[in-house]
Amino acid sequence: QTDRFTYDPGFTSTASCDSGLTFIDGDKGMLLHRGYPIDQLAEKSSFMEVSYLLLDGELPNKAQLDEFEYTINRHTMVHEQLKTLYNGFRRDAHPMAIMCGVVGALSAFYHDSTDINDPEQRRIASHRLIAKMPTLAAMAYKYSIGQPFLYPDNNLSYAGNFLRMTFGVPAEDYVVDPVIERAMDRIFILHADHEQNASTSTVRLAGSSGANPFACIAAGIACLWGPAHGGANEAALNMLREIGTVDRIPEYIARAKDKNDPFRLMGFGHRVYKNYDPRAKVMAQTATEVLDKLGVSDPVFDVARKLEEIALNDPYFIEKKLYPNVDFYSGIILSAIGFPTTMFTALFALARTVGWVAQWNEMISDPAQKIGRPRQLYTGPTQRDYVPVDKR
Ligand code: SDX
Repeated sequence: QTDRFTYDPGFTSTASCDSGLTFIDGDKGMLLHRGYPIDQLAEKSSFMEVSYLLLDGELPNKAQLDEFEYTINRHTMVHEQLKTLYNGFRRDAHPMAIMCGVVGALSAFYHDSTDINDPEQRRIASHRLIAKMPTLAAMAYKYSIGQPFLYPDNNLSYAGNFLRMTFGVPAEDYVVDPVIERAMDRIFILHADHEQNASTSTVRLAGSSGANPFACIAAGIACLWGPAHGGANEAALNMLREIGTVDRIPEYIARAKDKNDPFRLMGFGHRVYKNYDPRAKVMAQTATEVLDKLGVSDPVFDVARKLEEIALNDPYFIEKKLYPNVDFYSGIILSAIGFPTTMFTALFALARTVGWVAQWNEMISDPAQKIGRPRQLYTGPTQRDYVPVDKR
């Protein structure tokens, strides 16, 4: 029995649910997955281990991990018919538009064989989603550049398989760079789960009606796409590129503070963290490692570092408790690895799928759970009688 947190948030909680997966202390900048600090998991664990931890509550032993990885590998391929669906999209379709479509379409293949009241069928559906997201995301990228899809190679790691399906071509062997593979795996860990964020709450609300998990995850993908949420990683890199040079940072800091300007510093601020997002710290370290390994000196990274330094010493950001979040540095790494900005949120969705399915399982397995039904404070007109159109 692990120690139970009795955390008093200091406000009358409007908690939407109980959950034992992830604990965040926004004031301390603390993030735990089943009690394990995110920085320890990012440094010492693997995405497959963290996936097992989120789904089953404990870190796996070697035999359990081997079986889990074998099981995930058995679901990495997608139905050949699903490939036809990609051809219905324009080549320049945003990968998140494709992911919304093709993940929802998985329902058409597995809806009839997914009785959500059967724990084993819930487990299989969860494994299918975790396993197929890299294949579907890589296919979205390949489709956008007019290259052929590559089938999964289950001799590779989860991250290595994804890198090969994304950047490999049939004409030659693809060699997975271990530093890039480790960085990719760590990025997946950092995005795996994050309590009741908007997209996870969307998955829970959709799932509370009894909808099949594939449709629920498609709903989560749609919510994640927004620039205030998972779309911020793409927006953050675009912002850093628009700033371009360190001397233009003050102009953007001033815009971010101007209440009449809708501009926000993308990758900054958070609904819960009023301290440094612990994931951003690991992401910044990873950016340094990847850029050093690739021998890339990206001026955008210099802009990001200077922007962070200026903002963290600015009275407005200090008073509003605005710090870099998980999305501030991730785009720099992903761009250095070779991903276009349009793929960044698809990668976030790929990694967050394990958190979504773990939270969905936690909810569905609770016999007391009911359909979600948020209420409102009504602000419209009081009751009144109908007026015929010739009297209006
Ligand atoms: C993610 O919920 C999760 O856990 C999400 C996530 C996950 O893992 O699932 O962590 C992933 O979505 C991270 C957030 C990514 N989004 C961005 O980086 C977009 C830029 N950030 C913002 O738009 C904003 O910070 C939000 C949407 C994230 C939070 O907005 P809030 O709820 O308004 O934040 P707040 O209440 O703490 O804001 C306090 C003040 C406000 O001003 P006042 O109303 O007090 O005058 O700070 C301002 C905000 O307007 N503010 C910003 C700002 N973020 C907040 N001002 C300038 N730049 C910003 N980035």
